[in-house]
Amino acid sequence: MDDITRTPHYRDLLGAIPAENYVGEDVLAMEIERIFKPSWLCVGALADLANHQDFVTARVGPHSIVVQNFKGELKAFRNVCSHRFSRLQTEPCGNRRLQCPYHGWLYDAAGVPIGIPQNDSAFGLSEAEKATLSLQAYDLALAGHFVFVRMAGDGPDLRDYLGEVYDFLVHVSQICPQRVEEARVDLACNWKLAVENGVEAYHHALVHPETFTHVLQQDIVMNAYGPHCTHEGDLTEKSRHWWSVVADKARLKPSALYRDYISFLIFPNIVTTFTYGALFTFQVIVPTSAVTTHIAASAWLAEGGGAALRPVIASLNGFAEKVRAEDRAICAIAQQGVAERGLGRAAVLGEVDNRVRHFQNAYARRLGEVRHA
Ligand code: FES
Ligand SMILES: [Fe+2]
Repeated sequence: MDDITRTPHYRDLLGAIPAENYVGEDVLAMEIERIFKPSWLCVGALADLANHQDFVTARVGPHSIVVQNFKGELKAFRNVCSHRFSRLQTEPCGNRRLQCPYHGWLYDAAGVPIGIPQNDSAFGLSEAEKATLSLQAYDLALAGHFVFVRMAGDGPDLRDYLGEVYDFLVHVSQICPQRVEEARVDLACNWKLAVENGVEAYHHALVHPETFTHVLQQDIVMNAYGPHCTHEGDLTEKSRHWWSVVADKARLKPSALYRDYISFLIFPNIVTTFTYGALFTFQVIVPTSAVTTHIAASAWLAEGGGAALRPVIASLNGFAEKVRAEDRAICAIAQQGVAERGLGRAAVLGEVDNRVRHFQNAYARRLGEVRHA
């Protein structure tokens, strides 16, 4: 091994994330401070926040964010009560006042605990004192269907952060108005491993022999947009034919801009795919610990109708479920290897791993930037 590492070619192939960074709560704590908090993170879909008192919650390691609709206004807060620090909302989404389930403190749109049971006799807090006990608020912004929150107090706005990706999300949200699937998956691996698995097609031949292999041709091209990047490729003849029949039968109205396949990695933790300009999948990948990951996945379909729509959706969902199960299994196996101590280097990344490399470089820059700041 030592001899090989001395060759210049081999060194060029090494990635930017050492194996040790895929285990260890200390690494995750650093990632949360330097990568997750300064980034805009998707916490859910606008469809789940349409009505007064609708809420969604999202986890990032030990942190939880709540977004709540107050009479049409969306507000984001740290999901921790000001009294004795209980979680406020406990479900991924629902319709409920922003009220702590422990002793009942009730919060308004400014995050102020306006309702405190037995305040007069037990606490005697004035209105001004209540205001000082406001929940920690976060910035919130929308891109198409998707609600983003930034935990750090300052930084670029969402449009600047996303760059070209912003217009893409707005476009696909217009083209694909119907959410046809929602799934939540827990994986026994580090979050970066799940992101990396989501951005390369090299594993398709062995891991998805009956599904993805038949969808994409091999000539996939990467484009970089800051820390984000895309993969664009042609669908196979077979897949394009399937989609043209389906689009016809279900009277789908696909995008005129994207007719084959494009996948975005939205740094740090969102992987999307857009197929035939008609099916958009969106996966938010979050760490729940250093070695466990949660994926909130949704699929959105172009406008359509007719009796053929239902079997099409069932078929697409069956495909997605199978792919997710295959990825979940291989990620757990990969994590076992990467968690071995003493590997002493980063992964070997070939041309087929070009988006993995892009992700690793962006990650390393972010981690390093703050360290040297
Ligand atoms: S911890 Fe929330 S009301 Fe007591
Ligand atoms: Fe996969």
